[in-house]
Amino acid sequence: MIADIIVDLQYGDCGKGKITHHLCKNNYYTHVLRYNGGCNAGHTIYHEGKKFITHHIPAGVFFGVKSIIGSGCVINVEQFFKEMDELREGGIDVEGLVYVAANTHVITQSHLEEDSSENKIGTTKRGNGPAYRDKYARAGIQAKDVPELQPFLIDLYEEFHGNGTSPVILCEGAQGFGLDIDHGDYPYVTSSHCTTAGALLNAIPPAWVRDVWGVAKIYETYVGSKSFEPDEPIFSKLRDIGGEYGATTGRPRQCNWADVSLIEKASKINGVTKIVFNKVDILRELGQWNLIIDGETTDLQTEENTREFIKSRLDKNMEVFFSDNPHSI
Ligand code: IMP
Ligand code: MG
Repeated sequence: MIADIIVDLQYGDCGKGKITHHLCKNNYYTHVLRYNGGCNAGHTIYHEGKKFITHHIPAGVFFGVKSIIGSGCVINVEQFFKEMDELREGGIDVEGLVYVAANTHVITQSHLEEDSSENKIGTTKRGNGPAYRDKYARAGIQAKDVPELQPFLIDLYEEFHGNGTSPVILCEGAQGFGLDIDHGDYPYVTSSHCTTAGALLNAIPPAWVRDVWGVAKIYETYVGSKSFEPDEPIFSKLRDIGGEYGATTGRPRQCNWADVSLIEKASKINGVTKIVFNKVDILRELGQWNLIIDGETTDLQTEENTREFIKSRLDKNMEVFFSDNPHSI
């Protein structure tokens, strides 16, 4: 019994979908499990030359791996069926591969309506916060109570712990450390657990965890209403070169240099064993190698210096990968 976990170390949108897709290629996993979030997440995946944006369905489905929306998630039923149709239209075989944990909570029409007027923290307006609130207020609806979802329901206990099962699970997170309900910049956070702890809420015992893949970008982006981007023209340039517009809402993402202290903290709290820095080619094209080091913007001058500095601040046993966009690692 093995579980590898993919976590985002910044504010979401670091390229988790790409890493899931890459790790699934060898078909070694028996399951891919989305462990938190709802359709606030947008996962951009390039598969056989085609671009797909999924919100609910984990990337295992592209490789015929059983893909589960876990109990740590919230699900919009209409969006789920829309996504299934889009995948089918894109030539992906989803039949018998996609499941929803029976105890996953449902995003209702009234959750959506309530969230649609939210502008205090700048949510994605997908009903995420109200759905989690009702879950914890013990006033929610679970997937098992929705007639249309009956053919897709799965019991995580039976599936992962039943007689004769020995699952090898890839756990795919949504959002990121800076948006985590406990460790993020509250109240500018999402309503779920975006850390490795969140993965364990889906019937995954800690002893099964093998690798924790931390995913970061070589710079930072954030979407929401707090002021994040320094008022300097270089960040508009960075946004355009990096194509930093939301996959879910199309909103421009605010940009900044990568904060090494955040990466260090997120790596430690998540227990990261392997780390990927995505979109390195974007800084190469921008021609500026800045990092925020202990609160100060610092010019590292070259890609090599940047890589070496980051490595020096991480656990020496951690495997560090630098990766271009959107190619595989
Ligand atoms: P909510 O998750 O829609 O409630 O939004 C809470 C905060 O998380 C807002 O700042 C959103 O922009 C941000 N957020 C939620 N999901 C994502 C994501 O997948 N990528 C980036 N930001 C996200
Ligand atoms: Mg995203």
